[in-house]
Amino acid sequence: MATLELPSRDTLFAPVAGLMARADWERMFAEEVEAILRLKRERNAVILAHNYQTPEIFHGVADIRGDSLALAREARGLDAEVIVMAGVHFMAETVKLLNPDRTVLIPDARAGCSLAEGITAENVRALKAAWPGVPVVTYVNSTAAVKAESDICCTSGNARRVVESLGVPRVIMIPDEFLARNIEAETGIEMITWPARCEVHERFTPDEIRQYRRLHRGVRVIAHPECPPEVVAEADFSGSTAQMIAYVAEKRPEKVLLVTECSMSDNLSALYPETRFVRPCNLCPHMKRITLSRIRAALETLQTEVLIPAELQAPARRSVERMLAV
Ligand code: 13P
Ligand code: SF4
Repeated sequence: MATLELPSRDTLFAPVAGLMARADWERMFAEEVEAILRLKRERNAVILAHNYQTPEIFHGVADIRGDSLALAREARGLDAEVIVMAGVHFMAETVKLLNPDRTVLIPDARAGCSLAEGITAENVRALKAAWPGVPVVTYVNSTAAVKAESDICCTSGNARRVVESLGVPRVIMIPDEFLARNIEAETGIEMITWPARCEVHERFTPDEIRQYRRLHRGVRVIAHPECPPEVVAEADFSGSTAQMIAYVAEKRPEKVLLVTECSMSDNLSALYPETRFVRPCNLCPHMKRITLSRIRAALETLQTEVLIPAELQAPARRSVERMLAV
């Protein structure tokens, strides 16, 4: 096999040059980045990275970056034998549902999500029994077993469109209580909710946002819809992580407060150095389990492979495909 000509270290460092000293990058990341680029070629692999991944992953080794919706869309029919999900487990499951013939790897199988862990398939069956005939809209932050019990999935990027596409006055929207309440406020469609929350976004408070506004006059505040409704009410804009990025790209605010996970501001400040990012820092411990060395190990060992029980595959895939068709 022809050896891969790697880009020069100057080229590899350039995307993160505004974020860290060259000496630190050389010491901590350069070797791992080069090893991963070589392994990707050897394994015919691609790396999908969620917007919450750290800059050395997001800018250093990812082939496709995005929010949950973009990653699900891009995952369809990828021309690669191995797909590495630099994100959390439910994202890797969604990729596997859409690519059953590919090897899908998660670099750390413990990379979970408080929303996905907050509801079981049995809980969904009980909700359906309590509300017969009411459609179940399930946030992609859920397990394949929960998706298999649902009518349709949604992400934060398309939740409004998905809910409105059903043409009904009431839906069961699970598992994120806050996302459901925020979509209810936008659409007027009644939501039957489930009390699961994102452990990162539930910590933001309206008072904190007001304090940041006082400290940083003129700051634009953009909040993820997993935040409590009182926090979203304080924001100038609310949307998925990709929609937040699009807002910054389009409006180029002088100062912006991203009410979401910390790495978003790091990744964006590398792209928009003229914008000042005010950083209220809440880390997602699950996203942070993914590191360059674990990505490298995943490519070396082809572990941990994400597999979905045969009986869940068709019904879970149907819920995701229905969402993608909206
Ligand atoms: P996005 O789909 O907006 O990227 O959100 C995923 C997520 O887990 C946010 O906490
Ligand atoms: Fe789950 Fe919240 Fe982490 Fe997103 S930020 S993966 S919703 S725990």
